[in-house]
Amino acid sequence: MKTFLNILYTSNGSTATITINRPEKLNALNRETLKELQSALTLAQNDGDIRAVILTGSGDKAFVAGADISEFANFDAHHGSELAQKGQDEVMNFIENFNKPVIAAINGYALGGGLELAMAAHIRIASENAKMGLPEVSLGVIPGYGGTQRLAQLVGKGHALEMICSAVPISADKALRLGLVNEVVAQENLLETAEKLAQKISGNSPVAIKYAIQAINAGFEIDKNGFQEEIRLFGACFETADFKEGTSAFLEKRKAQFQGK
Ligand code: COA
Repeated sequence: MKTFLNILYTSNGSTATITINRPEKLNALNRETLKELQSALTLAQNDGDIRAVILTGSGDKAFVAGADISEFANFDAHHGSELAQKGQDEVMNFIENFNKPVIAAINGYALGGGLELAMAAHIRIASENAKMGLPEVSLGVIPGYGGTQRLAQLVGKGHALEMICSAVPISADKALRLGLVNEVVAQENLLETAEKLAQKISGNSPVAIKYAIQAINAGFEIDKNGFQEEIRLFGACFETADFKEGTSAFLEKRKAQFQGK
């Protein structure tokens, strides 16, 4: 286990679990925590044995209750834009483009920057008590860590506008109905469910998974053609050791042992 001030980092060999650990502040994302989150993610990215990452919050009340409001209460326009730019570049976009699947295990409140963090992850699993929302307009700001874009992508423009303009959080069940989360489970089963999924992911080709993430993301980038990216990356798979191993294992009726190359 690697220790940070506000983050716990554990690994079971193939899955890294990153826990935001400021339960007394409902895991609100202050500057230090964002910096440590980026460092913990970099650790997972650079560890060749890690095949998937679980992101969760400490305690049974909150995943993350937002960006730390006390840190930006006195900001002007320049500092506000800077905060959003840094958070998007260094954490949210880093997660979205991560080379391994990131699973958000949402164990309670996911509000503001907390929901934005969960939405940057590739897969979201929520506990039954989770409450999700983007309440920024109730503070006089708009979401700044990608929330206006990713919420609309996930639930459609109408539901995103309703959630953002009303500032009212939704329940886990409603989030499931809207497609905001992939699955809802009892709180005591949340981590186990995420770990089982991570385990399934771990058995597949890391290179193919990385290319799949890139191809899917390309479809949401204005300057890219997702279909062309898919064609390019599909071709690139044929040059990988993972492809040779995957096809040989199938033909030899054995389980593939992927090296991620
Ligand atoms: N930023 C900074 N501190 C936060 C925080 C945030 N986003 N969310 C919670 N906290 C702090 C509270 O200030 C409180 O600290 P204190 O004990 O030193 O006073 C502590 O976490 C516990 O929160 P509290 O409000 O007492 O818990 P609650 O159960 O009564 O309410 C919430 C829970 C989530 C409804 C409430 O904390 C809240 O509305 N938080 C802000 C949510 C938000 O607007 N997020 C978007 C930010 S852009």
